[in-house]
Amino acid sequence: MAMRPPDTERLSVMTLEELKRQAEISLSGLGVDNEAAIEKKFADAWDAMVQERRHLIQHSADITFSRRVREFRNLFLARGHGLVARIKANWLDATPKTLKPFAGREFNTLRLNAENLLEEDAILKIVSSRQSFGKSEPREEVDLTLPGNRRPLGSLHPVTQMQREIEEIFLNLGFRIESGPEIESVYYNFDALNIPESHPSRDDWDTLYIDSKTVLRTHTSPVQIRAMEKYGAPLYIIIPGKCYRHDNPDASHSPMFHQIEGLAIASDITFADLKGTLDFFARKLFGEKVRTRFQPSFFPFTEPSGEVSISCIFCGGEGCRVCKESGWIEVMGCGMVHPLVLRNGGIDPEKYTGWAFGLGIDRFAMLKYDINDIQLFFQSDVRFLKQF
Ligand code: PHE
Repeated sequence: MAMRPPDTERLSVMTLEELKRQAEISLSGLGVDNEAAIEKKFADAWDAMVQERRHLIQHSADITFSRRVREFRNLFLARGHGLVARIKANWLDATPKTLKPFAGREFNTLRLNAENLLEEDAILKIVSSRQSFGKSEPREEVDLTLPGNRRPLGSLHPVTQMQREIEEIFLNLGFRIESGPEIESVYYNFDALNIPESHPSRDDWDTLYIDSKTVLRTHTSPVQIRAMEKYGAPLYIIIPGKCYRHDNPDASHSPMFHQIEGLAIASDITFADLKGTLDFFARKLFGEKVRTRFQPSFFPFTEPSGEVSISCIFCGGEGCRVCKESGWIEVMGCGMVHPLVLRNGGIDPEKYTGWAFGLGIDRFAMLKYDINDIQLFFQSDVRFLKQF
């Protein structure tokens, strides 16, 4: 069903009477026998309901809100004879097995949307009765037999859920959570991390500059230096937070996104610790069967640097659309902290070594929840957010 706001001006192709008639006929009886046709049918039903609601609102100036809410509820959601119940009985329950999961999703969206409309009306009702408080006109009569108003409960954003899940794993390993400013100096964002003036990431095209010495941080790595200065070694931290890049929004890019940085510094840290920790982390997060692969890469602030991939969590490594038939999904950058970076953080590289990694939380959430468009996270559409 198309995600369309309820008050769209689109003309309905189906009147309410027609919808009532069709709701008594099975989908196959209506000649609807494929997913596209089912989607269209549910979209038409939604349009008809939205149009009826608009009609009721426009013609209810003279009737009270409670009556209007009750009328909607009866029409759409009444048990047994409400439109949603009839659609369930005839369109969903009677659908052949092969199309049922699809029809089920369409039906759930329709039902949720109808309930949302009623929630909105219930809120309008509260607002309007508040407004009439204190005025001399008689207050609206309260119908105590009406069902209570459902107060919609919020939930944690999927990116926040992912962040907390990752944090939990590292907290259990003894890491602490550290944070730093999103408005960052060029020094911490680039210089202290051994990123030379000529590095392409410093370009206006990639970095959002506030002035010549200040940027919106392009990664969480500057907090590595801040934490080294603040705490010294040994140090075991993760750094979740927002980052910004001069990217046009598309399905996989957002000018604002989220990273988690990991940093471990002690007197005898090796690349084997890095591999072991990230392998453990991947199995905790994606399941024991998941394998990790390390390939050489380059970052100015780590030496050697690596790119970590996990075996594809969708096909188990066989090759599929998501992993582009490779069996692997690249998930983060990592490496041994560059001696110059340790020194910039005030830590003696002769005494201490360390590893670091950086990953995109949004991308992890997309993998985990099988979401193909990063923009969905930032559009604040309750119908999307409600699913988590
Ligand atoms: N900061 C790097 C990036 O944003 C990721 C990274 C972090 C790589 C730590 C290595 C070590 O791409």
